[in-house]
Amino acid sequence: MVTVVVVIVVVVVVVVVVVVLVVVAVIIVVVVMSAVAIVLAEYLVQNKALVEGKNVLELGAGTGLTGMVAAALGGRVTVTEREEAMTHLMASVAHNTINKAWEISAKALDWTHSLEEYDFPALDLVIGADIIYIEETFQDLLRTIVSLAKSKSTLVLLSCKIRYDRDLYFLDLLKDHFNVEEVFYDRDRDIKIFSVIRFS
Ligand SMILES: C[S@@+](CC[C@H](N)C(=O)[O-])C[C@H]1O[C@@H](n2cnc3c(N)ncnc32)[C@H](O)[C@@H]1O
Repeated sequence: MVTVVVVIVVVVVVVVVVVVLVVVAVIIVVVVMSAVAIVLAEYLVQNKALVEGKNVLELGAGTGLTGMVAAALGGRVTVTEREEAMTHLMASVAHNTINKAWEISAKALDWTHSLEEYDFPALDLVIGADIIYIEETFQDLLRTIVSLAKSKSTLVLLSCKIRYDRDLYFLDLLKDHFNVEEVFYDRDRDIKIFSVIRFS
């Protein structure tokens, strides 16, 4: 009988510890992810001329937070995500743009697909928050950015929390096609924004 009680107590303790660890991990991921998007959104607010009246596309938009801020600042914005995340993105945009006259739409854009299947207007600004994080996606993401930013008249802004050396490796890959410059550093949140502009 005592043994059974001990086993039950141990199982309960283990389950509680696992649940707490998972919740903490999820909170950390959500807070860090949101922070990267917030830093880019704040940068756009401080540099409104980059978006006002401009064609803007957000890659890997998640909730679409940064894109919606760009739309609130007067940009004509397309927020994009892979197909699997579109329901969440469309719901977020629909919910947050009720009674707003913002020009914003949500479209599927998967970096692994050829851009020939998409029909986007010439872009003034491409933005991405926390999209440099899975090494397996780097070549597809690079190809997508190269295809969207066809000349130096398209500015690409990427906000990142540099967590691993591989994140820096992606910036090196970009440097084959673009001038890459750190334009902002949020020291408290350790988040950087890079401007990425074609050589010509
Ligand atoms: C770390 S989240 C960042 C989300 C949002 N930008 C933010 O900062 O809150 C990375 C995003 O990239 C998207 N993503 C990953 N692989 C993708 C792909 N192949 N095509 C398009 N989006 C992709 C994910 O769905 C995810 O929403």
